[in-house]
Amino acid sequence: MTKQEEIQRLKAEKDAAILAHFYVAPEIQEAADYIGDSFKLSRIAKDLPNQTIVFCGVSFMGESGKLLSPGKRILMPAPDADCPMAHMVTRQEVERAREQYPDLAVVCYVNSTAEIKSWSDVCVTSANAVKIVKNLPNRNILFIPDKNLGRFVARQVPEKNVMLVNGFCPIHEGMKAQEIEALKKEHPKAEVLAHPECNESVLAMADYIGSTSGILAYAKESGAEEFIIGTEIGVLHELKKQNPGKRFFVPATPPVCYDMKKITLDQIIRVLKTGDHEASVDGQYADRAGAGLSRMLELAGR
Ligand code: 13P
Ligand code: SF4
Repeated sequence: MTKQEEIQRLKAEKDAAILAHFYVAPEIQEAADYIGDSFKLSRIAKDLPNQTIVFCGVSFMGESGKLLSPGKRILMPAPDADCPMAHMVTRQEVERAREQYPDLAVVCYVNSTAEIKSWSDVCVTSANAVKIVKNLPNRNILFIPDKNLGRFVARQVPEKNVMLVNGFCPIHEGMKAQEIEALKKEHPKAEVLAHPECNESVLAMADYIGSTSGILAYAKESGAEEFIIGTEIGVLHELKKQNPGKRFFVPATPPVCYDMKKITLDQIIRVLKTGDHEASVDGQYADRAGAGLSRMLELAGR
């Protein structure tokens, strides 16, 4: 029996569903029942009837699944797969802003720990951040922790005072504008599609800026035949699958999230067999952090 067959067998036996982010390795995406961006996966984890969910992603995704569905068993195949950005803001920064602006709304990107979410008023993903910030009644907004997504949101909502902290995704922040420029010279007809976590100079070159699912939708709809992709390389698997006639190029230094790549087929088999590595959330943060996520689902129109 192949590893993929073993996973399908165990999944049926345990009545489990496998969810995977677009950044995990192609063979993990193939093993999954659902692949998606952070927003879609958090909704699916909540809505699925299965009581056991294997979440192929980094730890904040498992925590979010648990916060939205406290009664479900969320298994993390690689429990050490963590997102560095998820820790990049301090409580003092949030408290200082709250003291300064009594009407402040603290808007927290889902790429954050449950503790950080618990300091906030509402969560967002890259797929719904603009919509949610626009619709909040507050004029003063502290956007945590991603400065690049925060700056992108601020530009779409000029009527608000959006303040930032210094968090970033090392993979998207580290992308080199010169490498995108070089690709544009080689492929002048290619459109540049970038994730809002990218640094400012890369975003300045983008024809389209959006979440991973936004990038997939844009590439499918566009009349262009060539694309330069400004996000983690895992998304190429689905892009190529959905667009067999189109060509996709990535920067010479490939953007790889090593945490997302920690997940292996063997680890999925292991958690399905043992039930090990269940995601959990410290009780002191659960109510506030869960409320921020639920508010996101309400405001984003589900
Ligand atoms: P999304 O497009 O899913 O928001 O992905 C961003 C990301 O970095 C997930 O870790
Ligand atoms: Fe975090 Fe960046 Fe990896 Fe996404 S790609 S999980 S933001 S380090």
